[in-house]
Amino acid sequence: MMSLIALFIGFLSLNTGYAYPNHRNASCQRADSSIIQHTGTPIGVVQAHNGIDLYISKPRGNKFNVAVLYLTDVFGIQLNENRLLADSFARAGFLTIAPDLFNGQPAPEDLNTPGFNTTEFLAQHGPEATDPLVAKAITYMRDTLNVERIAVTGYCFGGKYVFRFIAAGKGADAGFAAHPSLLENSEITSIDGPVSVAAAEMDTLLTPAKRREMEDLLMQTGNTYQTSLYSGTSHGFGVRANISDPRQKFAKEEAFWQAVKWFDAWA
Ligand SMILES: *[C@@H]1O[C@H](CO)[C@@H](O)[C@H](O)[C@H]1NC(C)=O
Ligand SMILES: *[C@@H]1O[C@H](CO)[C@@H](O)[C@H](O)[C@H]1NC(C)=O
Ligand SMILES: *[C@@H]1O[C@H](CO)[C@@H](O)[C@H](O)[C@H]1NC(C)=O
Repeated sequence: MMSLIALFIGFLSLNTGYAYPNHRNASCQRADSSIIQHTGTPIGVVQAHNGIDLYISKPRGNKFNVAVLYLTDVFGIQLNENRLLADSFARAGFLTIAPDLFNGQPAPEDLNTPGFNTTEFLAQHGPEATDPLVAKAITYMRDTLNVERIAVTGYCFGGKYVFRFIAAGKGADAGFAAHPSLLENSEITSIDGPVSVAAAEMDTLLTPAKRREMEDLLMQTGNTYQTSLYSGTSHGFGVRANISDPRQKFAKEEAFWQAVKWFDAWA
């Protein structure tokens, strides 16, 4: 009996001994939460280039071998939360470029604003209008800023273009999308690089059925991929989370780190 207990305790301490070194220095390994800012004044600048406005947020130093291309939701680079999130990527060490995908006229923060027609807006900003703007930003990053590798991050509307620009020859090297909307199956199967997705529990645009289908398709492509589902979240949480709600705040921050770690590993 004693030897059994001893064996059991021995087994436990062996396990503890094995796990201990990884946790001893845990506080040093934790993500630095001061990198993320949810409120306040953005630090980047808007610069016009070849007929498009770019929101540019620079990290310290000037080594830009990997840079982030940030593709916004329908609220555009005008939305403070988009600028602050782009700034967070810069604080994490990436030169970050967010093109104005709506020529100065993004959707109003309240989509129910009288006179605003979402269907019409989305029809005006389909791939024919949007692809050339994303391509311009990529050309600027490669030719003017001499960026070597492009990590593309996109939210809702912008998430679709993460998939479109990780296709062969489109210019992005690694992609992250939070709650992508209007995503076509052919866009998923056309990827030619690593893609990570953060999904919301409640999302009428990326429904549970569509999300599971996306996972199957990602697997079939043979590319490196990741999908993470965050409880207590709805569409848009990666940018416009209610940070007074602990689950939403956690999810928004975790989705940010998901992107940062993805880019560190695969871009
Ligand atoms: C903890 O990590 C830091 C940063 O990597 C390192 O400088 C330090 O020596 C580590 N401390 C211990 C006790 O391992
Ligand atoms: C919104 O735009 C679509 C497409 O142009 C049109 O079919 C629809 O009637 C419009 N809805 C409203 C409420 O005006
Ligand atoms: C944000 O979350 C807090 C805490 O859950 C809640 O009290 C508040 O009503 C929420 N705000 C909005 C605008 O939903």
